[in-house]
Amino acid sequence: MEQVIRIENLSKFFGEVCVLRDINLTVNKGEVVCIIGSSGGGKSTLLRCMNLLETPTAGAIYIDGINIMDKNVNVDRLRTKTGMVFQQFNLFNHLNVLDNCTLAQLKVLKTEKKLATAVAVSNLTKVGMADKLGYKINQLSGGQKQRVAIARALCMNPDVLLFDEPTSALDPEMVDEVLNVIKKLALEGMTMVIVTHEMSFAKNVATKIVFIDNGIAEFTGSPSEVFGDHGNVRLKEFIKVK
Ligand SMILES: Nc1ncnc2c1ncn2[C@@H]1O[C@H](COP(=O)(O)OP(=O)(O)OP(=O)(O)O)[C@@H](O)[C@H]1O
Ligand SMILES: [Mg+2]
Repeated sequence: MEQVIRIENLSKFFGEVCVLRDINLTVNKGEVVCIIGSSGGGKSTLLRCMNLLETPTAGAIYIDGINIMDKNVNVDRLRTKTGMVFQQFNLFNHLNVLDNCTLAQLKVLKTEKKLATAVAVSNLTKVGMADKLGYKINQLSGGQKQRVAIARALCMNPDVLLFDEPTSALDPEMVDEVLNVIKKLALEGMTMVIVTHEMSFAKNVATKIVFIDNGIAEFTGSPSEVFGDHGNVRLKEFIKVK
C-alpha cells in the first residue's frame, strides 16, 4: 500500500509544554483519516505539523517518502502536495472566486494562465461554484466560501488534503453542502486528513479515526472499532458527550 503520510514518534513542545507526545500515524493513498478529540488536545497542532505550519520538536514526518524535517525540503513545494483547508476559509478576500483558484497555480506552479483558468473552472465545477467565478469572496455564504477554499486547494493537484474543522465556522444549514463535497472527494479516492467534531461524518466516511487526548493518540481504529466495544474509557466518554 502506498503511504502518503507516515508520522513516527512525533512530539511537539511549545516552550516547556508538551502538546503532542510520541504520535505514530500512517495515511495510505485513498484513505480518509479523521482526527477527533476534546478541545486543546492537539488536533490542529498535529495537522499543522504535516505541512510545517508548526515545526515538530522530535520525531519524523514523511510525505511521499520524503522526511519533511530535512533541512533541504522546499516548504512551498511541500505545501502544494499537502493542501490545507482551514476553519476560517483563509481566502484572499480582495480577489474574486476564479482568481483565488488561479493565483497559486500562476505564482507557485508557474502554470500558464489559460491552463490555470481551465483547472480552476474544473475544480470550481466539482464543488458546485462554477456559476460564481466573478463573485467577490464577501458576496458568498460561509458554505460557498468553504467550497471555494476546497477548490483552491484542489487546483494545486495535492497528494493529500488536510482539513482543520472545515464546518465549525458554518451556520448549521450549510454544514451538509460542505460535507457532501468532501464525501464526493472521498469516493473519488482523494487522500484526506480531517480534524472534525462531526461524529456521524467520521463514522460514515473515515477509513481510520484517531482519537487525540491531551497530546496522546489514545486510540486509532476503523469507525466500527472506535464506535464499537473497546476498553478505552476516555474515548467512550468523549463519544458519549458528543
Ligand atoms: N502557538 C502556540 N503557542 C503556545 N501554545 C499553543 C500554540 N498553539 C497551540 N498551543 C497549545 O497547544 C495545545 C493544543 O492546541 P491545538 O490547537 O492543537 O488543540 P485542538 O485539539 O486543535 O483544540 P480545538 O478543538 O479547540 O481546536 C493547547 O493547549 C494550546 O493552547
Ligand atoms: Mg483545533
